Amino acid sequence: MDYKKHVKIVEDWPKEGIKFKDITPLMADGDAFRSAVDEIVEYAKEKEIDIVVGPEARGFIIGCPVSYALGVGFAPVRKEGKLPREVVKVNYGLEYGSNILTIHKDAIKPGQRVLITDDLLATGGTIEATIKLVEELGGIVVGCAFIIELSYLDGLEKLQGYDVLTLMSY
Ligand code: PRP
Repeated sequence: MDYKKHVKIVEDWPKEGIKFKDITPLMADGDAFRSAVDEIVEYAKEKEIDIVVGPEARGFIIGCPVSYALGVGFAPVRKEGKLPREVVKVNYGLEYGSNILTIHKDAIKPGQRVLITDDLLATGGTIEATIKLVEELGGIVVGCAFIIELSYLDGLEKLQGYDVLTLMSY
């Protein structure tokens, strides 16, 4: 599948100098979206995943259909102040800015095998923070799946030692 034809590059958004990769056209195309989800499901199938974890907001869009297809649950990682019960939190750097991510303390049980999904790997700050949260709760990160990797930002370097799937690279 040629996923790149479904990605729109938006110059200078949300800040000057950033070439934003908009995957909403990919999600809007039934064949392309299903193919992307299917590829991640295929990758995860033999990993005996107990739960899928995805960071707000676009990690939800990818992670939820994957968790449904695998027949396992989904746990959201959210920006600070969004989850209603007791959380663990971590500070992280972004391609543009920094933020705090949180997960419910009881979202993952120690020893559970976790697949993390997101639309995009840029600097790797978000995935690194998400891994920290999962591991703090005793989860085992057995895979990380992304639609897009921005190879010029070296996010993969933060994922050394982890199993990673990316569907396309810029
Ligand atoms: C984007 C994207 C990834 C993250 C990648 O999310 O969806 O989660 O940035 O960047 P990184 O590898 O440099 O951390 P964003 O934080 O913009 O949140 P949103 O999905 O809620 O818009």
